[in-house]
Amino acid sequence: MANLDMIYNRKSVRKFKDVEVPKEDILKMLEAAIEAPSPKHQQNWNFVVITNKELINKMAEIVATSHEKIGEIAKTEKDRKIHMSVLKYYTSFKNAPAVVMVYSKPYDMIEYKILKENGATKEVLDVLVSPQSAAQAIGAAVENFLLAATEMGYGSCYMTGPTHAKAELEKLIGFEKPNYELMSMISVGIAEDNTPEKLPRKPLQEVVTFVD
Ligand SMILES: Cc1cc2nc3c(=O)[nH]c(=O)nc-3n(C[C@H](O)[C@H](O)[C@H](O)COP(=O)(O)O)c2cc1C
Repeated sequence: MANLDMIYNRKSVRKFKDVEVPKEDILKMLEAAIEAPSPKHQQNWNFVVITNKELINKMAEIVATSHEKIGEIAKTEKDRKIHMSVLKYYTSFKNAPAVVMVYSKPYDMIEYKILKENGATKEVLDVLVSPQSAAQAIGAAVENFLLAATEMGYGSCYMTGPTHAKAELEKLIGFEKPNYELMSMISVGIAEDNTPEKLPRKPLQEVVTFVD
């Protein structure tokens, strides 16, 4: 029988103990991450690991400020409050001992270029890119990372929410690789005691159809 425990044991953890994650452990999680599939094996990911507490705190401040600024768009106080209510999910990484910033470069789709040069319509080209293959590969890599972290006894959380501040975050971190942009972040560390249980799933029959 296959052992799928790590899949069922994984949950999003947003509170961490003040315990460092050894670099070797993070590297092991990253080794798992890069085993993920990617479109045409382009391995379009790049990971930046932050363990500096001051930097992590500064990142959380940047996200909070950006979130508040975006919230000024809301026309009513009620809408602004709803917008602000999710901020805690975008800054929960501030207490994590390590944060992995996941960058991606666009998927280089050779047939897209060829069809475009041959005058394909926007409709055809839009269908080609609609699977957002680069983002899907990032998702696969992040999930591998999360599963490895779980198996190794760590808590983690996959986040895209904080990336609305990507311009400022990228500037602060100073990682520069042409054509790469911040796609998601992962917080990782030893989970605080009694973190919330994993959320229940929709029943399988609601989300699965067999076509025989
Ligand atoms: C693409 C993606 C983006 C997410 N972004 C955030 C985020 O910004 N902040 C956060 O706290 N959780 C984020 N999550 C975690 C989800 O909220 C979480 O997976 C979901 O509520 C189910 O809970 P579970 O992971 O404990 O099973 C994200 C998950 C995914 C897959």
